[in-house]
Amino acid sequence: MMILVTGGTGLVGAHLLVSLTQQNEKIRAIHRESSSLEVVKNVFSYYYDDIEPFYSQIEWIVADIVDITSLEKAFKGITHVYHAAAIVSFSPKDYWKMRKINIEGTANIVNFSIAQNVKKLCYVSSIAAVDKTPKNGFIDETGDWSVETNNYGYAITKHGAETEVWRGTQEGLDAVIVNPGVILGSGSWNTSSGQIFSKVHDGLRFYTEGTTGYVGVKDVVKAMVQLMESDIINERFILVAENLQLKELLFQIADAFGKKRPSIKVSKMLSEIAWRIASIVTIFGIQPTLTKQTASSIHNQYYFSNKKIESAIGLIFEPISKTIRETCREYRKDVLNIKV
Ligand SMILES: NC(=O)c1ccc[n+]([C@@H]2O[C@H](COP(=O)([O-])OP(=O)(O)OC[C@H]3O[C@@H](n4cnc5c(N)ncnc54)[C@H](OP(=O)(O)O)[C@@H]3O)[C@@H](O)[C@H]2O)c1
Repeated sequence: MMILVTGGTGLVGAHLLVSLTQQNEKIRAIHRESSSLEVVKNVFSYYYDDIEPFYSQIEWIVADIVDITSLEKAFKGITHVYHAAAIVSFSPKDYWKMRKINIEGTANIVNFSIAQNVKKLCYVSSIAAVDKTPKNGFIDETGDWSVETNNYGYAITKHGAETEVWRGTQEGLDAVIVNPGVILGSGSWNTSSGQIFSKVHDGLRFYTEGTTGYVGVKDVVKAMVQLMESDIINERFILVAENLQLKELLFQIADAFGKKRPSIKVSKMLSEIAWRIASIVTIFGIQPTLTKQTASSIHNQYYFSNKKIESAIGLIFEPISKTIRETCREYRKDVLNIKV
């Protein structure tokens, strides 16, 4: 068995590498020339005092999922693939880059997996690629994703990437897809969801009452590994531990840091005005963090069902309050150098 991991320097990938190295498998991970492996070493240090025996099992190769030549080298001898590399962005300026990396990059991974007779692929998608029509009050894995209700770049590209994986399964590839909610965990404080902790720590003042699904990174990794080891193929699974209001999430993080809770409720009308003002600053070359998409998504009321993964592999999710406490503790250690 020889495993290939993409996105190994990211939040999900780094924790996944820890889990895979515990099983003594041969592991190859790709990273781009520009990326830093320090984040990965730091994530290993959450689990071990001496990271070397585990970390040294990883064979690192410089490769880009949109560069065919580099992938040829990366895929030599590979039997199993975990594909977690992607661009996570809600900024319209990243749309074409996301199309290229998330959709075309996934098509490349799928094509190489087929050509190399890879036994199984696990693709990390997102709840962004799930149809939002509730059935008995909850959103599940069924239903047809529609661009009408998900008309923003990230969702379009994650759906496009899933389509490439399903196309691969039609061509004989065995695959599983996971659709995590917002992933919480330690390590990548400046990218994707890791920024939530930095922002609250630095005194975020605003909240909304929008609701969505959240999950700890360790549970995401657990589900991925167990699905890969199972006989389950060609299925997708929502990974959500709890559905929470953004307000509840931010309050819990603020409490765990011992900081003041955000106190200004942002109404729908206020965020509609704010994103329009924010978009004006792009004229001056400044990229606003609030876009039309984020302004509306922070008010959505989405309740996801985790029944399918629970009954498929018996996964019991860690409560989000525990994930938050642990993540805040690591943040204080990493960023503030506070001994805990
Ligand atoms: N974070 C969340 O809340 C969340 C929720 C649901 C789903 N997801 C999905 O979970 C997966 C992992 O997300 P994450 O939070 O771990 O993201 P992340 O921390 O931003 O990491 C992204 C990873 O993708 C790699 N990457 C980007 N472009 C690449 C390219 N062209 N070639 C090779 N590698 C490339 C990066 O590697 P470099 O070091 O080379 O930059 C990095 O390792 C993504 O597919 C994301 O869509 C995330």
